[in-house]
Amino acid sequence: MKVEGLRVLVTGGAGFIGSHLVDLLSSQNKSVIVLDNFTSGKRENLKDHLNNKNVTIIEGDVRDKKLLIDITKDIDIAYHLAVQCLRVSIKDPEINHEVNATGTLNLCIASLKNRIKRLVYVSSSEVYGSAVTVPMNEDHPLNPMTVYGASKAAGEMYTLAYHKTYGLESMVVRPFNTYGPRSHFEGTYSEVIPKFALRYLCDASPVIFGDGTQTRDFTYVTDTVQGILMASECDKMIGQAVNIARGQEVSVNRLADIISKKLDKEDIKPVYETGRPGDVLRHHAGVIKARDMFGYTALIDIENGIEQYIGWFKAQGYDYEGLLKQDKVFNWE
Ligand SMILES: NC(=O)c1ccc[n+]([C@@H]2O[C@H](COP(=O)([O-])OP(=O)(O)OC[C@H]3O[C@@H](n4cnc5c(N)ncnc54)[C@H](O)[C@@H]3O)[C@@H](O)[C@H]2O)c1
Repeated sequence: MKVEGLRVLVTGGAGFIGSHLVDLLSSQNKSVIVLDNFTSGKRENLKDHLNNKNVTIIEGDVRDKKLLIDITKDIDIAYHLAVQCLRVSIKDPEINHEVNATGTLNLCIASLKNRIKRLVYVSSSEVYGSAVTVPMNEDHPLNPMTVYGASKAAGEMYTLAYHKTYGLESMVVRPFNTYGPRSHFEGTYSEVIPKFALRYLCDASPVIFGDGTQTRDFTYVTDTVQGILMASECDKMIGQAVNIARGQEVSVNRLADIISKKLDKEDIKPVYETGRPGDVLRHHAGVIKARDMFGYTALIDIENGIEQYIGWFKAQGYDYEGLLKQDKVFNWE
């Protein structure tokens, strides 16, 4: 099914990945509705669309089932990205469950009621927990370490159960750690790459929790949203889950090394603190299914991606020292 020309909904569309998906979809679709409650999302992320008559921004909550039923009356395909993040889950597991699990069930209910053409649930590699076997293919056991991972897994189960029981055309995509322009560097939502870049730019040591040998499969955001779009157009994906990732394992130590080199700060060494509770030790995605089913490959490798990201970060005119003052080093607890 071609998505071009359809009416689409993007929940969490003001967030990091969601806003890039809106960029991609708005170029080829007549109508894009963004639903976001702006807890971590920003209007600024959608600034290119504020005067775009094809993009409608609705401030609302996925916990509001009635609102979802109203909105899905006028759409063909829903991309569901709204989320409360992992770090929120450590302190506030209930809100994580309500938004990530119940919010997804709400959207399944609304999607079926209005018989939308397709529901695409954007899950997370966090559903796997640490790798038991590598590369981690889609049949790797789901063994989430955190309430966040568990709530994302619940969302997956609801999405796929709605296909099995009611025939809703639904699917699950599982991006691995994504980075790039607009990724969060502030407070609770901040991500490792922006944090390291900011600290190096301020001549401060990046802080690594644990020994830095933990790995992630870092994927550049334009690759991630391209994968989400390609999966959503693949009819064979109905009732299935697929990884979206570069397929390269990168340790946090190597990440610090790459960023320090790109910024000419190799003399600044990381400092190490106690490991974080529930931290995944190893992620290395299997990427064969996405390639075989819909011809997808993530193109941007970590060196290139970090270079592009740093170029973007520097062009924003941020007050680095001011940002660093707001940056709290905390170990999830
Ligand atoms: N960033 C990553 O590395 C990564 C990796 C794998 C999967 N994912 C998944 O991708 C999706 C997007 O993640 P992101 O990194 O862009 O996060 P994000 O925090 O930037 O975006 C989430 C968006 O959801 C909105 N939101 C939160 N609660 C809401 C609610 N109750 N109702 C409506 N909107 C609400 C936020 O305001 C925000 O705009 C999530 O589903 C996440 O699980 C992200």
